[in-house]
This record gives sequence, C-alpha cells and structure tokens, in this order.
Amino acid sequence: MSIPTASIHGEWSTRLAFILAATGSAVGLGNIWKFPYMAGENGGGAFVIIYLGFIILFGLPVMMAEVLMGRRGRQSPINTLKLLCQQEQARAIWGLIGWSGVLAGVLILSYYSVIAGWSLSYVLESGAGQLKNIDQREAGNLFKQLISDPVKLVVWHSIFMFMTMVVVARGVNSGIEVAVRYLMPALFLLLLILIGYSLTHGGFAQAVDFMFTPDFSKINQDVVLSAMGQAFFSLSLGMGAIMIYGSYLNKTASIGKTTLAVAIADSGVAILAGLAIFPIVFSNGLETAQGAGLIFNTLPLAFGQMSGGLLFGTLFFIMLVFAAWTSSISLIEPAVAWLVENRGLARVRASIYCGFATWLIGLGTVLSFNYGQNWQIFGKTFFDCLDYLTSNIMLPLGGLMIALFVGWVMKETSVKEELAMQNQVIYSIWLFLLRFVTPLGLVLVFLSVIEVI
Ligand code: TRP
Repeated sequence: MSIPTASIHGEWSTRLAFILAATGSAVGLGNIWKFPYMAGENGGGAFVIIYLGFIILFGLPVMMAEVLMGRRGRQSPINTLKLLCQQEQARAIWGLIGWSGVLAGVLILSYYSVIAGWSLSYVLESGAGQLKNIDQREAGNLFKQLISDPVKLVVWHSIFMFMTMVVVARGVNSGIEVAVRYLMPALFLLLLILIGYSLTHGGFAQAVDFMFTPDFSKINQDVVLSAMGQAFFSLSLGMGAIMIYGSYLNKTASIGKTTLAVAIADSGVAILAGLAIFPIVFSNGLETAQGAGLIFNTLPLAFGQMSGGLLFGTLFFIMLVFAAWTSSISLIEPAVAWLVENRGLARVRASIYCGFATWLIGLGTVLSFNYGQNWQIFGKTFFDCLDYLTSNIMLPLGGLMIALFVGWVMKETSVKEELAMQNQVIYSIWLFLLRFVTPLGLVLVFLSVIEVI
C-alpha cells in the first residue's frame, strides 16, 4: 500500500499553524483548572516535580512518536494504525491504539465539556458584575449553586458541545487555525496580569514554597500515577489527538523542534496558573486540597477585589473557555475523521453523531455533582471514575503502546525517514527514551499501583 501524500481532511497552512493548534490542544482546562487542584490535593512541590519529570521522560518522546505516526499515516488514528501495521508487517492488535484512543477522546470530552460549561457560566457571572467585592463564603456559594443545579449544568454543557461541534464540522483550516493564532497569546497575557495581582496581594512566597519545595513524604503510588496521568492529559497524549494533528502536518516540518515548543508552552502555562492561584489560596486562608472547585472558589476573590476586575475577570473566563474550546476539538476529531473516512459520512453529519453521543455521556457527569453524588464505585463518583479511568489508565496505556510500536515494531528506516532529524545525538537520546525509559517507567508505575491494591 502506498503512503498517502496528504490527508483528505486538509493540511495546516504553516508549521506555526501546527504548533499553535497542537498548543491549543495541549493548553486547556488541564493546565488552568486541573493542574492547580491536583497539585493542591497531592502535596504541591513533590507532585509538580514528578509531573515535570514525566513530561520530559514520557511526554516528549511519546509526543514525537505520535506526530511521526500521524504524519506517516495521514488519516484518522484508527486507519493510520491499520496502514502502518500493513506497511510494517505488524500484528493487527496494534490497531487497538486507534480504537481505545477514539473511546478515550469521547469519554474525556464528555466531562471536559461540563467543566468548560462552568467556565462559560462564570463569563456571565463576571460580566454581570456578580463577582464584585465577593467574599469567600459568597464565592463558595456561587459555585455550589451552579453545580447543584443540573438544569443549568446541562444548558452550559449543551452550549459548549455545540460550539465544539460547529468548529469540528467546519474542518481543519477555517476553524481551528484562525482561532488559536490570537487566543493563545491573549491567554498568556491575562495569566501574567493575574500573577501581577497575586504578587502584590500576599501569599506569593508561600505559594512558591508550596509549589516548588518538594515534600516527598506526601508521595505514594497513587500520587505518582496521578502525576503521570496528568502529564499525558496535559500534553493531549495517548489517544491520537496529537497523532491526527500530525497527520495534517506537511512533510517538511521538523517534528523534534515543534514538539519541544508545544511541551514548553504547555508546562509553562500550568506553572503560571499555579503561581496565579495559590497566592490567592494562601492569602485568604483557603484549603489547597479543595478538588475540582479550586479555581472557581479562588479566582473570583481576586477579580472581585482588583481594580478593573470586572473587565479582567470576564476576559479571563472567556479565555478559559477558548482554551478549553481549542482542546475539545482535538478530543473529538479522531472519531469524526474516522466516520468520514470509513462510513463516507459528510463532516457535518459525522460531527452531529459524535457530538450527540458525547453529550449524552456528559449527563452522567452533570448528575455526579448533585443528584448522583452518592452513586459511587470505589468511593468515586461518575465524574471521578471517568477522570481516573481515562487519565490514569487509558492515556498512559495508549502512550505505552505508542512507545512500543514506534520504538520496537516499526522499522528503524521508516522511523528515521519520517523524523528526518539532523542531529544524531538527539535522535539517539530520543530513541533510547522511547524504547527503554518510557515503557519501563510506565510499567513500573502501573505495577506499583497494582501492588498497593
Ligand atoms: N490537553 C488538554 C488540556 O490540558 C485536554 C486534551 C485535549 C486532551 N486533547 C486531549 C487530553 C487528548 C488527553 C488527550 O486541557
């Protein structure tokens, strides 16, 4: 079978467009909403350091592998795997990477959209001046009122799913590319403004201490697993999102450099988000381990007090929505592209089907914050279960299979050709990480958790 030279779904217009789109996918709720609360729940510094270690040891190598596979296959992950298995004379079982990726993407988006819905609702609250001079108790109540009202949650969840499907239906170039070009820099700027506030209102030193002084007594197997899951989640790895974005990348771009740029931007935003949020937590005497509500309980306090808070707060939540939007697209794109390729559906119809299925599953998450709070498995709500299953299990397993596939199954000549790396030393380091460090490390983390259970 010959190698397709271009994807039927389109191609990024420039290398920068790919970097921005991949950064758009990586930077999202995972950085601004999830990273701070996970660091807060897992003891701060030690979690942050382990997370950064996983980004370097697992994230970077796997990300390069994913882009490489996508660019070689030029189709949805499911069909890319099919093609690569034929070319490389590999067993069809590797095709699981594509299938489990599509499933993971839909499952993640189903709850991601609900949280993005919270952000949408805060755009409105902030814009309407509801955060002005708000105190801790009021901020807490505002959040509680939101999540205990399933109707509100469903409405916002529906709006966000609709927004996502509109862009996906329009395709690669006219939607995603245009949006990320302006939104990513703006988000960065607003984070800096927030940090400016946090720097001048107390608690900053304590926050730095919390985030960067490792207290390894807080670390157990589950924390390590969560840090690993978060590294994959944050970089959008292990389910084919970056693979499909790679399939729209033209043949001349350097995979190594682009990947590094995305990883740096992604971890940078996560750290900045922590530095913006924890000072507010400390200066108001709040809990670090508040879970999923952390940023919604703390940021309104800052916006409520700062001058220009109405404007900055509203802009911030708008940016958060945009950051989530550019991520959510990549979660569903593999499923939609597959339906277009294999079922011959028009993009619009494929988007509607996938969007509806995802929306439906999302209702489980909506209920897990109110009526369904007590429907628990292993002490976890539906939302917690989904999050644990996808981030901590499916994504790292996908990453493991991707590392093994590119590191051991594909012929080195194919890998070398696709990567076209000039620097042999960096190439060897990458291959070593991908072949040995990533798979062994991943298996060790899994084994240590299983042992505990
Ligand atoms: N990385 C995004 C974030 O941090 C979420 C995301 C988008 C994602 N695409 C993904 C996570 C693919 C895992 C896999 O918010």
